[in-house]
Amino acid sequence: MAEGLPRLAVVGIHGYGASHLRAATERLDKIDLVGVCDTKPDDSGRLDPRVPVFTDVAELLDRTRPEIVTIATPIHTHLPFAEAALRSGADVLLEKPPVATLDQFDRLLAVAAETGRVVQIGFQSLGSAAFPALDTMIDSGRLGELVGISGVGVWLRTFSYWRRSAWAGRRVIDGVPVMDGVITNPLAHATSAALRLARAQRADDLAEVEVDLFRANAIESDDTSVVRVVTNDGTRVTLGLTLCAEQSQEAPYVEVVGTEQAARFFYTQDLVELRPAADLTGAPAETLTYERTSLLDNLLAHRATGEPLLCPLIDTGGFMRVVDAVAAGEPRPLAPSATERVEADGEQRMMIPGIDGWVRRAAYEHATFTALGAPFAR
Ligand SMILES: NC(=O)c1ccc[n+]([C@@H]2O[C@H](COP(=O)([O-])OP(=O)(O)OC[C@H]3O[C@@H](n4cnc5c(N)ncnc54)[C@H](O)[C@@H]3O)[C@@H](O)[C@H]2O)c1
Repeated sequence: MAEGLPRLAVVGIHGYGASHLRAATERLDKIDLVGVCDTKPDDSGRLDPRVPVFTDVAELLDRTRPEIVTIATPIHTHLPFAEAALRSGADVLLEKPPVATLDQFDRLLAVAAETGRVVQIGFQSLGSAAFPALDTMIDSGRLGELVGISGVGVWLRTFSYWRRSAWAGRRVIDGVPVMDGVITNPLAHATSAALRLARAQRADDLAEVEVDLFRANAIESDDTSVVRVVTNDGTRVTLGLTLCAEQSQEAPYVEVVGTEQAARFFYTQDLVELRPAADLTGAPAETLTYERTSLLDNLLAHRATGEPLLCPLIDTGGFMRVVDAVAAGEPRPLAPSATERVEADGEQRMMIPGIDGWVRRAAYEHATFTALGAPFAR
């Protein structure tokens, strides 16, 4: 084991956790990987056989005393695992969504304050250098007056996605909140990025939050939704999101719309397109690409030099207000006549005819599907 390097443990090594395991094993010059934990055995071929593998988080913490713990496990395990890691004396890199409810968020904040440890949340797009560049575009007036921020997510998920884990598409399991829907999980980065662009990341930055929740799939959660936020300074932030795309999945984006120009940020690609505000559907006038800092590297730098965290827990309070609104709502099932079951490459999925256009209208007109009178929402 490497002397002097921060002791790091990985909790959750399959699913998205595989990327946490990869990040750790690619940084063995920066960290000492002291253990991993998952209820399923490791088959990655990445682990040095001397690294102990645990199936129980408490045992991992007790036996390996990590200084940093990364967590990529089901949403409803986030609070107990993060709390245990903080109380054992570790800093935490916790996957999004941070937790399942605003009460759990307040509790985790309190535990972090009590233990003096930090929690970075895995909204990895916040590591993009596009954010400071977009801040400058907004502040310099290059876009004109700010009209609003719109987000569009047109994704598709097959039946096998909803079957992959017992918690997929669930709102509650055995009385424990899960909140796994389009807003809170697959397209969560869209809301997080939009609130960051509006500089309204904290819980008390949001004056109004409204959600409009629908489901085409046979799940508990929403798969097709609108998020409408008005920030304390009056900025409108609206996202149209679906996992039931008509044709194919598109790169999701958030767009800062000004009176002169609009900057469309493809947050999975660190790419920004500029267009005249009068021609939002036209070809971009300019395309810019940016670097990205990994949230693990940023957490290591924070510990070593005090560099500010890119996504500290407190800055996900605005996002958690949206999660809270989702929990307070109830997704409306779409009528069979409003959906189609389609098949491609041997995989079946639900599709909502016309949805690609409706999510765009909702995002740019800052209105819910219901307010717009979308036929499936009647
Ligand atoms: N940042 C991103 O872009 C991104 C992308 C996908 C998923 N995620 C997040 O990652 C997390 C995990 O999502 P997923 O889709 O990989 O889930 P998953 O259910 O596919 O996998 C979770 C992993 O946790 C393990 N696990 C479950 N219960 C455990 C327990 N009690 N103790 C130890 N290990 C346990 C599972 O065996 C599995 O390896 C979620 O919070 C999700 O939102 C983030």
